[in-house]
Amino acid sequence: MGRSLAARGCRGARAPAEPISLDLVAMRAVVLEQPGQITRVEDLELEAPRAGEVLVRIAASGVCHSDLHVRDAEWERPGPIVLGHEGAGFVEAVGPGVTTPRVGDLVALSWYYPCLRCAHCQAGRQWLCSDTRALDHRLPDGTTRLSRSDGSAVMSYLAIGTFAERTVVAADAAIPMPVGISAEVAALIGCAVTTGVGAVLKTAQVPVGASVAVIGLGGVGLSVVMGAALAGATRIVAVDRVAEKLERARDLGATDLILAADPEQTLSAIRAVTDGGPDFSFEAIGLASTIELSVACLPRGGTAVLVGLTRFGARASFEAFPFVDGSQRILGSNYGFAVAATDFPRYAELHLAGRLPVDRLIDARIGLDDVEDAFDRMRRGEGVRRVIVP
Ligand SMILES: NC(=O)c1ccc[n+]([C@@H]2O[C@H](COP(=O)([O-])OP(=O)(O)OC[C@H]3O[C@@H](n4cnc5c(N)ncnc54)[C@H](O)[C@@H]3O)[C@@H](O)[C@H]2O)c1
Ligand SMILES: [Zn+2]
Ligand SMILES: [Zn+2]
Repeated sequence: MGRSLAARGCRGARAPAEPISLDLVAMRAVVLEQPGQITRVEDLELEAPRAGEVLVRIAASGVCHSDLHVRDAEWERPGPIVLGHEGAGFVEAVGPGVTTPRVGDLVALSWYYPCLRCAHCQAGRQWLCSDTRALDHRLPDGTTRLSRSDGSAVMSYLAIGTFAERTVVAADAAIPMPVGISAEVAALIGCAVTTGVGAVLKTAQVPVGASVAVIGLGGVGLSVVMGAALAGATRIVAVDRVAEKLERARDLGATDLILAADPEQTLSAIRAVTDGGPDFSFEAIGLASTIELSVACLPRGGTAVLVGLTRFGARASFEAFPFVDGSQRILGSNYGFAVAATDFPRYAELHLAGRLPVDRLIDARIGLDDVEDAFDRMRRGEGVRRVIVP
C-alpha cells in the first residue's frame, strides 16, 4: 500500500523528481555494532516519517572526529547505531503536521533538535536543551525508524544518522538552505562550520582587532580560523602537528603558522608571535595536553575557548594563581552555541557572500564503503573533510 510521491513545487535548491514508496524504504547505511568494532555497510529498513518528522535523502555527509570518538569507544554509545551527524540532503516526504521543511527542500541537518519547551530553550539557549532526545539518539517520541530485516531496532546517531542513503529526522532538525548552496557545503554547516565559526562569533564574541590562537586544524579548527578572519581578528595563529594543515590555515586567513612538536617550544612560539599571548585561544582537538596549552598561553585577561571533545573521564589542570590574578577565563563551547534555524541559513548566506569559504575544507568525495579508510586518515591527521556522497 505504498503511497508514491514526486518532488513538487519550486523553492530553493530542489531535488530531481523521483517517485518513491514511503511505507518502508530499503537503504544502505554504515552501522556500528558496538563502539570499538569495525563499522559495516548494511541494508536496513527505514519507516515512513510520523507526525513532526521528515524523510531526507542524504546527498552529502562529512566525516567528523566525533564519529571517530564513538567508533574508537572513547565515548559510550548504544549499538547497533548508524553513525554520521554532519549531513545534508533533500526532503522526500514529510509526516503529518509538518509545514517546514517542504518536500524537495535541500536541508542541512542539526544534531541537536531542541524541545523548545525546557528552560534553556525558552531562554534561547537551544544548544543546552535538557529535554531533547537527540543525545539518546532517539526521535522526539523516543523511538527510531531504523530496523534490520529481522525487525530489530537500529539507533541513529544524534537522531540524524547521516552515513546512510536516507534518514528520518525531527522536522526541527532539518533546516532549509538558501538557493545556491551545495549539499556538501550544507553538510559541513551541520557540524564543523557551526561549531567552529559559532565558537568565535557566539561563544567568545571575538572583537575586531583581537589576537587569536587556534590549536588543532581539522574541520572544526579551520572553521575557527575562518570565523576569526570573519570577525576581523588581526593576528590568527594556527597550530597543528601536521604541516599540511598549516598551509590550509594560511589559505583561510591565518597570519602565523606553528608546527607543534615539543609543548614548551609550541608555548613559547605562540607567545612570541602574539606579544605575550593571544586574547583568545581555541582548542579544537580534545586532548588534555592541548587544553592545558590553550590556558597556559594566555596573557592576563585572556580567554581559552574549549571546542575539542575529550574521551570520557579526561581531566586537565592549570596553575590557579596566575589564572585568578590575571582575570582569565575558560569557556566551553557546545555546537558553537547554535540555534540551527537561524544560524545555519546565516552561515550559508555568509558562504554565498564569499566570506566563509567552506568548500575549501573538502578534500575528497567518498562512498559509504570508504568510512573506515576515512577514519584511518583522520587518526593520522591526513586531510580535512572527506565527504560521503551515498
Ligand atoms: N564542541 C562541539 O560541539 C564539537 C562539535 C564537533 C566536533 N567537536 C570535537 O572537535 C574536535 C576536532 O574535530 P575535527 O573533526 O576537526 O577533528 P580532526 O581529527 O579533523 O582534527 C584534529 C586536528 O588536530 C591535530 N592534532 C592532533 N593532535 C595534536 C596535537 N597533539 N598537537 C597539535 N595538533 C594535533 C590533527 O593533526 C588534526 O589536524 C574533536 O574532539 C571533535 O569531537 C566538538
Ligand atoms: Zn561533528
Ligand atoms: Zn529544550
